[in-house]
Amino acid sequence: RLSTGVLWSMEEIHVFPELESTNAWALQHGVCGDVCIADQQSAGRGRRGREWQSPAGMNVYLSVRWCFKPVPEHLPLLSLVTGLAVAEALEDCAIHGHGLKWPNDVYYDGKKLGGILLEAVGSLKDVVIGIGLNVNMLPESGAAIDQPWTSLQQIRGEPVERHALMVAILQRLIPRLKAFPRLDITQFQQDWQRRDLLQGREVLVQSGTETLQGLASGVDNRGQLKITLYDGSIKNLSSADVSVRLG
Ligand code: BTN
Repeated sequence: RLSTGVLWSMEEIHVFPELESTNAWALQHGVCGDVCIADQQSAGRGRRGREWQSPAGMNVYLSVRWCFKPVPEHLPLLSLVTGLAVAEALEDCAIHGHGLKWPNDVYYDGKKLGGILLEAVGSLKDVVIGIGLNVNMLPESGAAIDQPWTSLQQIRGEPVERHALMVAILQRLIPRLKAFPRLDITQFQQDWQRRDLLQGREVLVQSGTETLQGLASGVDNRGQLKITLYDGSIKNLSSADVSVRLG
């Protein structure tokens, strides 16, 4: 157990050579404010029950357990706010050109660079925020990823220091978590819009058995994706029931 006291008080950073999943560890063993980092994950979790490829020594696998008392009404915005923190942290490390694909993906040049997975403990009072970023993974590392992906090393053309990136993420994320109960939602929507890769683009949305086509028009105050359909009506869609493809 490594106590920092540098980034913020009370919380601890737990670093492991290998875990099944940093999210799983934080859910089972973490307390409020704990950060969990692993060098590799044997059963990294992605959204929608997918596996998150987590080879050793290359990428960032990081989870934070956070408690809200009372639970803010706008809790559904938390994963989007986390995305903003990750995007800012990349810029702090002189990485530019990335954006956010609703609801939780970090993208660069049409390829996935990272993802965010929020998992809640029972009452929603405690949440675990998991962040995975492809840092030094290269195509020849043999990762079996079933969608276009990239890594910071591929973008930069040279290896990127993972630890500075982890510190930058925590330095952006923790203040945002502390301020989250008093989130200025209008400001948040503006910040999101600046990084929103879907904004104004034609999207195909699979919602249950229905396929909708329209223009992505930002997020509402609950973090739902707004789609302007071709009849001019607006649909608000929650990430739980849709998957989005660019048209
Ligand atoms: C996604 O599907 O895009 C979300 C991926 C989230 C991966 C991270 S890696 C750290 C944390 N621990 C996990 O098991 N998953 C998240």
